[in-house]
Amino acid sequence: MTAIAVVPLRGDELGEMVHHLSAAGLIHTDVEGPNRWFFRVENLGLIGFAGLEGQGADRLLRSVVVAPDRRGQGLGCRLVEAVEDTARSQGVQRLHLLTTTAAPFFRALGYGDADRSAAPTTIANSREFANLCPASAAYLVKDL
Ligand SMILES: CC(C)(COP(=O)(O)OP(=O)(O)OC[C@H]1O[C@@H](n2cnc3c(N)ncnc32)[C@H](O)[C@@H]1OP(=O)(O)O)[C@@H](O)C(=O)NCCC(=O)NCCS
Repeated sequence: MTAIAVVPLRGDELGEMVHHLSAAGLIHTDVEGPNRWFFRVENLGLIGFAGLEGQGADRLLRSVVVAPDRRGQGLGCRLVEAVEDTARSQGVQRLHLLTTTAAPFFRALGYGDADRSAAPTTIANSREFANLCPASAAYLVKDL
């Protein structure tokens, strides 16, 4: 398969991403805050979207969504790995995420369960962590 392209999202593409996030039941009301970088991921057309939030070595991996017609073909894995490469190239050392819907998917990609109370301050203070995700969400971390 040809390479996956991870393209920074343009401002006028936010609406398309929000549509996909909303349809998948993911948080989408805070995409315009500071320190958030969203990506459009493509291979022979749109695969999906993903975002990084925060500053420094620890970032939140958020808004991972594959377009419905492209799910179940291994592209979600490739999307996450491509965004991890992008994060690495920006000096990120650890990715953190919260999920109520796809913990086994991320565990298979090397993300390990962690204790929310041990999250670094930069992650714990993120809006998703502090307010938006229910306490029952799995908190997973991966060392890049
Ligand atoms: C979760 C999601 C990104 C997976 O994308 P995908 O392209 O369908 O995933 P893949 O085809 O790469 O699947 C890889 C493996 O993960 C499994 N998997 C996929 N989605 C899963 C889920 N929600 N829960 C558990 N396992 C899942 C697949 O069965 C597959 O397993 P296999 O290798 O044993 O066959 C996609 O279903 C999606 O966009 N869901 C809605 C949004 C969402 O829940 N995002 C995650 C929270 S941030």
